[in-house]
This record gives sequence, C-alpha cells and structure tokens, in this order.
Amino acid sequence: MNRNDTTARIAHVFSGTLMHSTPRAAVEILHNCVLGVDDKGKIAFIENHRDVVSLSEKWGFETSDIKQLGQYEFLMPGMVDTHIHASQYSYTGTALDLPLLEWLNTYTFPVEAKYKDLDFANNVYTKVVRRTLKNGTTTACYFATIHTDASLVLGELADRFGQRALVGKVCMDCNSAVPQYKESPSECKEETDRFIKELLKKEYTNVKPVVTPRFAPSCSSSLLSELGEIAKNNKLHVQSHISENKEEVELVKTLFPGCRSYTDVYLKHNLLTERTVMAHGCHLTDEELELFRETGSAISHCPNSNISICSGMLNVRNVLNHKVKLGLGTDVAGGYSPSMLDAMRRTLDTSKALTIQDPQHKTLSFEEVFRLATLGGSEALSLDDQIGNFVVGKDFDALRVNICVPDGPIDLFPGEAPKVILEKFLNLGDDRNITEVYVAGRQVVPFPDK
Ligand code: GUN
Ligand code: ZN
Repeated sequence: MNRNDTTARIAHVFSGTLMHSTPRAAVEILHNCVLGVDDKGKIAFIENHRDVVSLSEKWGFETSDIKQLGQYEFLMPGMVDTHIHASQYSYTGTALDLPLLEWLNTYTFPVEAKYKDLDFANNVYTKVVRRTLKNGTTTACYFATIHTDASLVLGELADRFGQRALVGKVCMDCNSAVPQYKESPSECKEETDRFIKELLKKEYTNVKPVVTPRFAPSCSSSLLSELGEIAKNNKLHVQSHISENKEEVELVKTLFPGCRSYTDVYLKHNLLTERTVMAHGCHLTDEELELFRETGSAISHCPNSNISICSGMLNVRNVLNHKVKLGLGTDVAGGYSPSMLDAMRRTLDTSKALTIQDPQHKTLSFEEVFRLATLGGSEALSLDDQIGNFVVGKDFDALRVNICVPDGPIDLFPGEAPKVILEKFLNLGDDRNITEVYVAGRQVVPFPDK
C-alpha cells in the first residue's frame, strides 16, 4: 500500500527487537525490525531496519521520530486476562482460607452487594483498571456484579483509561446465602437487556458487553435459557465458570439431574458458542472437552485461584491435545495476583506439579505459556483476528519491556541471548519493567498526568 493512495498516516514507528507468538512458533524473535502503527491503531508494516529509509519515504514519517529500543528492550503483545472479577479487587490478597462454595457466601457475595453504591464501584473499578493496565493487561474479560449501573461504570472506566475489555453484568437468581445479593428471574433478564443496550449505545470502540451467568448453581434453568437467547440474538460473548471444584460438580448433578454433565447444562441452554469462555474446568472429562472443541468454546485457566482456594489442577496439556482454545486468567480475587505474569508463573508451577505426580506428563514450556498469555488469550476470546500478536492489519496492543531498569527486579550477566532475556522477564519481571503500554495504538501507560 502506498502512502499516496491511502489516508493512513503513521502514528508510531519502533525500531528494535519484537517477541511474539504465531500459530507455528510459541516464541518468534524478530531482530532489527521497524514496526509502524497507523493513526487507526493498526500495525501498518513490519520490516527489516535496513529498509528504513525507503519505508520513511513510502509512509511519510521522519526517521528522527522513530522510537529506538535499547539493547535490553523489546516489544511484546499486550497480555489478555481472560477471567477477572473487577468487583473482587478490593479484597485481593486476602480471604483464601475457604473452599469455593463457602468462600462465595462468606467473602464474595457480601462484598459484591456493596456495588449498589456507585462511589464504591467507581473507586474499586478505577483501581483495578489502572493496576491491570500497569501490569500489561491490554485486554480484560471482566465480571462486575449484578448491578447494571455499576457495571456501566466499569465499562466507562475501561474506555477512559484505554483498556480493551469485555464487561459482564453478573446474572444470578438462586442459591445465594446473602438475601440482598440476587435478583428475581424477570429483573435479571430486564437488567441484562438494559445493560447490553446501554453499553452498546456508548459506542466504545474497544469495550463490549459479555453475557454473564455467574455459574450453573446460581442460575435457574429458565434464566440460563433466557441468557442463551440474548447472547444468540445479539451475537455476544458469553462467560461463566465450570467444574472448578468437586463439591460444585456434585451440586450441579443434583441441581440439573436431566443433564449428562456440567458441560451439558450449558450446552442444553445454548450457552456454548464460539464466543464462550468458561473459567477453570479443572474437573472436566475428556467427553466434555470434546463438546468444548465441537462448539468452539474456550477455557480460561486460572492457576493462582485453583491453588489458592484448593479447587484443583487443570491439565492444560490435555486441554491443548483436545484442540480446545485456552487462555490464562488471574481470577482476582480467588487468585491473589492481578498480574498476568503471575498467571504465567502459576501455570508453569501447576504443570510441574502434574509432572511430579506423573513423570509421563509433558510439562509446559515457558514459551508455550507466553503464547497462552497473549495469542492464546486472544483466541479464547475470539479476538485473534484483531489482537494477540504482531501481524500487519491487527491492532497494535503492545508492551515496551525493559529488563534493565534502574533498581529493577532483574540482574543481567554478559552474553545473555534474547530468549534468556524473555525467560528472565517472565519469571522475574514486574510492572517496573513494563515501561510503556499501547492499546489499539494509543499509549495508555505511563498514565497521562491528569
Ligand atoms: N464460581 C462462581 N462465582 C465465582 C467467583 O466469583 N469466583 C470463582 N473463583 N469461582 C466462582
Ligand atoms: Zn471467577
């Protein structure tokens, strides 16, 4: 495409090392690259630096405007958190001493009930959006609460700070031990319709609604059917939880005796689509994984949460062998860290624990886990035509990483290869190393002064 026959203008040009994943390579390292981003936030070109002069003529940018990455810097795709409860951020890092069903009734529902108060919601939601962006989460798939107006506030904040987000108003009409924290079936349907309508009306480019039945034990069969209809009629994403712990799986058997499995519950209510992401799935059978593959539904692996509230250990290798789409999630606050770097580390820990139990188990590599946090997450959210790696035409969602920041968490030694630099960042790095964050070409970190 020639600059003369297009309206695209170049907004940023970077020169240096890019690290990303492709369907064929878990880590591809591109040296001496120039990457251009157009004024629509899309990647316009990725070429070798030797062609920089002709590129500048073709695209009409000044070589003096190029952002030059240093020896210890690289660009990587932004990370995709496929499952996070924005509403639970206030108690992240606490309350990890009970198993799931007791944990929900004791800690979670009483806190989520507070989001009727929009000032409370605004305070927590501002903090979670800023914290996750600073930690390199360019896309988040959020659970909010049952409150429509507070959920709209979350959407507004994600848009304002520039995070790409799917936002879910939570739906639940039964089995809550906190009486004020559930809705009637009709209220739930009406408020879900209102939430979707209001959020779509804002026309945020990168913030969209996601239909969110909390999980089968919180929803009547008629509510699940309504939500399946709403998702289908509006072509929307769906998110929920599945097979997180064994007690929950047993409860679902008693609540839905006509269904063959937990997965069958969602299948029968038309909630398994190619835009569905289900969190956890620790105890799914191979037969259920087959249903995920057939329907194109995805799993969000949330290892910090799975260990922190003793739910189970998902065998990611088995899920990948079944060709089921899989991304990583922090599952704040069942997971105690809002950082996707932590989600990658805990994914490796769980995989290694499975190898300790069974030496035949093929442990995940750090390269595979890097792919799950980026391209895998984009596939799990069916956004891989738009984000996930560096391909011309995709949106530029990216992190500028510097592993050699003053007083940073990483020590370097002479002669370390780029792959080693990536491995050190994934295992030892933190938000100090993420010096710039871009979403759809807009620089969102460091935060603007105001
Ligand atoms: N299952 C239903 N609701 C929740 C929740 O808020 N957190 C987790 N980890 N599991 C759930
Ligand atoms: Zn969750």
